[in-house]
Amino acid sequence: MLISSFDIMKDGMDYNDYNSFRTILTPASGFQSAQFRFLELSCTRLENLVNDEGKKRMGPKPKVETLFEHLYWKDAGVNRKTGKKTLTLIDFEQRYLDSLIAHAKKVRRKTVEDKLLEISEPSTALKEKFREFDRLYNIEWPLVHLRTAAHYLNSKGENKTATGGSEWKKYLHPKYQQRKFFPSLWSKEEKSKWGTEHF
Ligand code: HEM
Repeated sequence: MLISSFDIMKDGMDYNDYNSFRTILTPASGFQSAQFRFLELSCTRLENLVNDEGKKRMGPKPKVETLFEHLYWKDAGVNRKTGKKTLTLIDFEQRYLDSLIAHAKKVRRKTVEDKLLEISEPSTALKEKFREFDRLYNIEWPLVHLRTAAHYLNSKGENKTATGGSEWKKYLHPKYQQRKFFPSLWSKEEKSKWGTEHF
């Protein structure tokens, strides 16, 4: 639904319309959508929400709290060199971090991905459905969204900051996020090209 209805965000208003409301939102951002975070926690094991850079930073067998420190979405609001967080991330964590961690613990070993892994020989049709969901949620929607962000933030040769202040061009790209709910269903080559082929 998001993919097919998102055109209205890009074509339904002009540059001035967009600018007239965007500053009012600051420092809020879609990045603070707790529902989006709850959904991804239910879909896949927490380990899959840590990108490659995060994996390098963590030791073996990390606890849930440690995994949380390195989730890909923190990169939208924390300077990894200094540890400094943006107001957007601070606000979000104050309100939701405890309940997100509680949810991650509650669904541990019970996520949709865990259920898939419990099936010893999933049928080709089932695997295709899971792959489609992964592709739509974690490649197609992020790219539609990124193109819309670029339409407003990059137009007229400017490079505007986003309301949440992330390095949005990098952060929003599926290649950087590497968010995959069902990594066992993708080949090494497919993973290495994640999100790069249609942009
Ligand atoms: C003109 C419209 C939009 C623009 C320019 C835009 C831009 C952005 C940017 C730049 C971010 C990165 C975080 C930040 O620094 O703020 C972001 C995150 C996000 N936005 Fe939007 N957005 C738009 C509309 C929407 C809409 C309509 C939705 C939901 C229906 C949405 C949902 C999200 C979500 C869920 C995130 C977090 C994505 C993630 O962590 O992977 N955005 N948006």
